[in-house]
Amino acid sequence: MGKPFFFLFLFLLCFFPSHPASAQHYNALFNFGDSLSDTGNVVLAGLPYGMTYFGHHTGRCSDGRLVIDFMEGIGLPHLPPSTANNTNFHRGANFAFIAAPALPFDFFHQRGLSHGLHVNASIHEQIDQFQKLLPSICGSPQDCKDFLSKSLLVVGEFGGNDYNTGLFGGWSITKVTSFVPHVTRVVADGIERLIGLGAVDLIVPSVLPVGCFPLYLTLSDSSDPAEYGPRTGCLRKFNALAWYHNADLRRQLDQLGKKYPAVSIRYADFYAQIFDFVTNPLKYGFKAGALRTCCGAPGMSKYNFNLEAKCDQNGSTVCSDISAHVSWDGIHMTETAHRIIARGWLSGPYVNPPILSSPAS
Ligand SMILES: *[C@@H]1O[C@H](CO)[C@@H](O)[C@H](O)[C@H]1NC(C)=O
Ligand SMILES: *[C@@H]1O[C@H](CO)[C@@H](O)[C@H](O)[C@H]1NC(C)=O
Ligand SMILES: *[C@@H]1O[C@H](CO)[C@@H](O)[C@H](O)[C@H]1NC(C)=O
Repeated sequence: MGKPFFFLFLFLLCFFPSHPASAQHYNALFNFGDSLSDTGNVVLAGLPYGMTYFGHHTGRCSDGRLVIDFMEGIGLPHLPPSTANNTNFHRGANFAFIAAPALPFDFFHQRGLSHGLHVNASIHEQIDQFQKLLPSICGSPQDCKDFLSKSLLVVGEFGGNDYNTGLFGGWSITKVTSFVPHVTRVVADGIERLIGLGAVDLIVPSVLPVGCFPLYLTLSDSSDPAEYGPRTGCLRKFNALAWYHNADLRRQLDQLGKKYPAVSIRYADFYAQIFDFVTNPLKYGFKAGALRTCCGAPGMSKYNFNLEAKCDQNGSTVCSDISAHVSWDGIHMTETAHRIIARGWLSGPYVNPPILSSPAS
């Protein structure tokens, strides 16, 4: 997307109402995923997480709102976490858990990797919770089918923690790449379960180009320039893994699309958007060197990421220009990055057709 077009795009967003009537029929939003979208099922850290928007830590892995929070552009409120007490879920719920893998405990246990898992909240476990909650939201299975036929479901991102569990468990990237078909198949199975419950409009995000993130750049620091993309400075092998996952995921989604022609299953391209942040940071108001961590500490790498002083730990500081950074804590992004990503899903081009333009089937 060239520069003139981008400005036009911002201009249109400023001067047209953000709620075109055609897209305003969603009754609820349901989300499944991991730390990229958990809005409070797991609350681990403290401030400065949450400082920009909420003023306190809510469980969100960012300084402020997440991509899913900006889905309020479709007229729905911030999603309550599914484990919240005394909460009404009639406009939706969020089943995402920080550190959730797609695959179940047994997959990792069989490979001697289960010590690296922090939660039992795989995609099928999240859907189990959804299924348990549904009667309180919409009644009988048939009533719930009618209800879900007007809802939007976001399924993912899933996969990042599956690969992390292998990589941080000491497996080579080649061996971890063998997880890919298992991960994408379990995501596709989850989507089929949701369709069986009545979902007709699903958004399925890709995994991130993690080779561009300070955690990986720091821990896999290499003196060999060939390991890095010449334009991006990102680590090629991690992005190749993400790219391979995303290609396989799209293949699975295409197959589901053929099997369920009445269901809309749209891919949300985190990868391409973040890759563009890295190659064209100034276009988005990020500074050059957007790969640096905002909330972190020096000492371990040039990316301001230090495992001994992570974002809410002693020794770490918050940068003065948060919104000029893509990376918040070395692993997760800033609210500014999330807002831009959400715009790309709601108005295009990173969900196609964009969420705001299309009627639900
Ligand atoms: C809901 O209540 C239970 C039991 O009191 C508590 O353990 C849990 O943390 C609460 N959930 C949230 C999201 O606060
Ligand atoms: C997840 O479940 C397995 C067995 O099903 C159990 O051994 C393990 O301790 C659980 N992990 C967590 C983090 O609860
Ligand atoms: C951080 O520093 C404070 C004050 O020196 C101390 O009380 C606290 O235990 C430290 N926290 C960690 C996680 O090291």
